[in-house]
Amino acid sequence: MGKRINIAIDGPAGAGKSTVAKMVAEKLSFIYIDTGAMYRALTYEALKENVEISNGEKLIDLLKKTSIELINKSGKQLIMLNNNDVTEEIRLSEVTNNVSYVARHVEVREEMVRLQQQLAKHGGTVMDGRDIGTAVLPSAEIKVFLTATVDERARRRHEEHLSKGQPSDLELLKSEISQRDKLDSERAVAPLKKADDAIEIDSTFLSIPEVVGKILTIVYEKGDKKSE
Ligand code: CDP
Ligand code: CDP
Repeated sequence: MGKRINIAIDGPAGAGKSTVAKMVAEKLSFIYIDTGAMYRALTYEALKENVEISNGEKLIDLLKKTSIELINKSGKQLIMLNNNDVTEEIRLSEVTNNVSYVARHVEVREEMVRLQQQLAKHGGTVMDGRDIGTAVLPSAEIKVFLTATVDERARRRHEEHLSKGQPSDLELLKSEISQRDKLDSERAVAPLKKADDAIEIDSTFLSIPEVVGKILTIVYEKGDKKSE
């Protein structure tokens, strides 16, 4: 059997990347890799250890002595930081509001990209993030750029918080998401942007199964073309 393909899914916060990436991976029996969780784990550790997030060299020193692993347990993906489960903690708003400042450092990105490329070297992955199609896996066989309006993305996060019984402020979420979009799209190194060969899917008016269906259609069409 030949090497399996890699699928890259990029896009802004709340576009539905992780939800659909997980479902596509499950359908294809691929491994799902949440690269945002890796940046979040480093941010969490930096905040915990009082490492200045404006200092790229200090962050890279921290990253080098930190182990970040994505493991699957009973169908759930857990984020392990130095062998501790931080799956919930890395979603805290303090982490969310600082992660783009950590992710803008070139040294940090180089090391993260190296780790992520290692994870995908045998193929068979669905990887989501901001720079997967442009920098991490530029030769991924399938690239999707998933978008939705900022209002819809904030609404989704708001619903998600309410459904978990967490406090939520829609207007605040909208401004935090816009701020993160700006930081991620305007940074000097590997900014969030659609790869030239990525297929853009605007999910504003699409359900989760509809987006998953579209991506699977692209995968199957590609497979058919390969066997022609
Ligand atoms: O889930 P959500 O869309 O809110 O964000 P995430 O995918 O967990 O990513 C968190 C942050 O990590 C992003 O806002 C980016 O600053 C950074 N990130 C990145 O720079 N490159 C990636 N490949 C993935 C995430
Ligand atoms: O990973 P990313 O930040 O791009 O988004 P997500 O965490 O997968 O999705 C954010 C929320 O939007 C989740 O609660 C999804 O269930 C929801 N969602 C939706 O309502 N409709 C879609 N087409 C995609 C996601």
